[in-house]
Amino acid sequence: MSHWNQHARQWRKIGPPLRPQAEDLDFLTHSIVNQPRFTQKPPDILLLGVTPEITGLPWPPGSRLLAVDQSEAMIREVWSPHPTILSNAVRGKWCQLPTDNHSFDLIVGDGCMTLMDAEQGMLRFISELRRVLRPGGHLALRLFVRPDVPESPGQVFTELEQNRIGNFHIFKWRLLMALHGTLQEGVTVSQAPDCWRQFVADDDRISICTGWEKTTIVTLEAYRNSTARYYFPTLGEARAILSRYLIEERICTPSYELGDRCPTVIYRCP
Ligand SMILES: C[S@@+](CC[C@H](N)C(=O)[O-])C[C@H]1O[C@@H](n2cnc3c(N)ncnc32)[C@H](O)[C@@H]1O
Repeated sequence: MSHWNQHARQWRKIGPPLRPQAEDLDFLTHSIVNQPRFTQKPPDILLLGVTPEITGLPWPPGSRLLAVDQSEAMIREVWSPHPTILSNAVRGKWCQLPTDNHSFDLIVGDGCMTLMDAEQGMLRFISELRRVLRPGGHLALRLFVRPDVPESPGQVFTELEQNRIGNFHIFKWRLLMALHGTLQEGVTVSQAPDCWRQFVADDDRISICTGWEKTTIVTLEAYRNSTARYYFPTLGEARAILSRYLIEERICTPSYELGDRCPTVIYRCP
């Protein structure tokens, strides 16, 4: 089963910070949704993926939203149209969008840069987004960034043993970032279950000690046969890539656990 088919099946088990939280959605609402200019001319919005929390934002009446995702399974299982504005989901790749130049006032995405193929892939991605953005339009992306000073896998497992990690998904992200090489190298997700086995002899004991359900812990196993690779830039690396094509306007670092590694950035098209 492909990585994203698996992802679609496990969607409901995916928790914070992998999905946007109320604080992230409030920031988007205040900084891009509620723009006075949209009362005159409702925006054309491109959603990268089918993230339901973003589809469901209080978009101004008359807005039109197009969601683009490469995975038929994600569209079938996770896409849900907006209740009041015109919205549609189509299959497509973010680096070759099935849309004309300058067709959107807003582009929004959650964690998308992590899925691009290293720095070159990220540059292609941002250049394609700029192609379809109208001048003065905005790009809002929640990023997953690795810290400037990396943690070691051992540090992450020590904190796991001490029950100091808020949930399994935070643990998983910290582990993948600890296993990450340079931006060119990224991290293969199949490294995570192998590393787990090196450090954890008894899943039941971890489940009891942390209170995390075993059905959640075993989702790490889904990565074992995956060839997917994630790329977590540092914030500096991400900014350097974004600034090649767009102008930085705002950044929001949320207060939830690991929020310092999940900033939302807003860039404007010149
Ligand atoms: C928006 S991202 C991340 C959303 C959320 N934060 C999460 O962790 O699931 C997930 C989606 O990206 C889609 N996707 C990944 N790479 C893509 C690409 N190059 N072009 C289009 N869709 C892509 C996947 O099919 C999946 O539905």
